[in-house]
Amino acid sequence: MTSQTHAGQTIIDPPEDGHFRNGSTNQPSPTTLSLHLTINGETHALDVEPRVTLLDALRERLHLTGTKKGCDQGQCGACTVHVDGERVLACLTLAAQVEGRSITTIEGLADEDGTLHAVQAAFLEQDAFQCGYCTPGQIMSAVACIREGHAGSDEEIREYMAGNLCRCGAYPHIVAAVRQAARELRS
Ligand code: FES
Ligand code: FES
Repeated sequence: MTSQTHAGQTIIDPPEDGHFRNGSTNQPSPTTLSLHLTINGETHALDVEPRVTLLDALRERLHLTGTKKGCDQGQCGACTVHVDGERVLACLTLAAQVEGRSITTIEGLADEDGTLHAVQAAFLEQDAFQCGYCTPGQIMSAVACIREGHAGSDEEIREYMAGNLCRCGAYPHIVAAVRQAARELRS
């Protein structure tokens, strides 16, 4: 599968022959797929229709509701998760496209002992949210943005976080949090 970037996010293309494979049988399935998804280091088995998005699989089937559904059409960034370390929009990604890949959601970002990731801590310290609805997606994007080396200046942070909208307008605090976390992670 090939990938392309769109506003800092990666879009995973469907298979070239148009057929998703059904689990280990490697057979195309028109109705239900048996998938094994590796999420936050744990493997989950689930049967889904080919049209089920990663976002709906996470929220409705696996009850990982930290990943938010905003627009459900690739416009807001609320559903941002990582697939093999790259940020993707879970509402534009089919669950079947990410079998065998490593998925990280906001629930998997902190250490096992509960120590927050530097970006999570910086969002708290900088008061980088109001209602909090966009925050998981903002944080997942920020972690990737810093890892990609795109947090060198406020302008760069704004550019590479542009795919994540905040209806509360907390942008100045979000930029401050990303700047702080980038500095801490560099040192
Ligand atoms: S819910 Fe996916 S981009 Fe808005
Ligand atoms: S904090 Fe409310 S949408 Fe961003």
